[in-house]
Amino acid sequence: AKGLPLSGKKVLITAGPTQEAIDPVRFLGNRSSGTMGFELAKKAANLGAKVVLVSGPTSLDVNHNSIELIRVISAQEMYEACHNHYNRTDIAICAAAVADYRPKNPAQEKLKKKDGGLNIELERNPDILLSLGEKKTHQFLVGFALETENEVENAKGKLQRKNLDAIVLNSLKDDGAGFGGTTNKITFIDKNLKIKTFGLKTKPEVASDIWEEIISKIHA
Ligand code: C5P
Repeated sequence: AKGLPLSGKKVLITAGPTQEAIDPVRFLGNRSSGTMGFELAKKAANLGAKVVLVSGPTSLDVNHNSIELIRVISAQEMYEACHNHYNRTDIAICAAAVADYRPKNPAQEKLKKKDGGLNIELERNPDILLSLGEKKTHQFLVGFALETENEVENAKGKLQRKNLDAIVLNSLKDDGAGFGGTTNKITFIDKNLKIKTFGLKTKPEVASDIWEEIISKIHA
């Protein structure tokens, strides 16, 4: 669709949690629903973009001609899907709650219970957003930050360390913000460290605000 603000743009979005196998039936995960990423994808498509949505396990689905949904399980799979599409991406938003650690040696067979405790050794997962920041050429790259203390300072640090063009801070201190819920409260920080705060809104409204900010930066 010509004439829309994101016409001709290719957008890459990560969404949802990742699951890191402990054995064939168990995993480490988190409570991310994927809603924010899916709303960002739908909004981008409605604004004229072609979207690749890379999502970890979620109950959500999306049916839109301009959205290619790639379902992955683990952080490693999400990393590979993102890098496969990154060269052809104009704008990337990492909204996934990626597990920072994975079991080092996932068991091939279901673990049997034994007396006493159980230790599971973990190793670091790749930081997908950081790796996209390192590889950045022409892309406009956006991350999320979920902070519980020194929120703005930490988010600014993350923006600079990961070579981002903008970061969206979710405040967990605000009721109704962040994980799992249907509403969110964000602060948008651009790479000049200019900050803009928004009120508590539904996630579709938050997605509109985020796209309005990004579009104003890429057309500036
Ligand atoms: O450093 P932190 O995990 O707080 O950064 C959050 C941002 O980094 C989010 O945009 C998240 O999607 C992204 N991230 C990632 N890969 C990881 C960890 C975080 O892409 N392994």
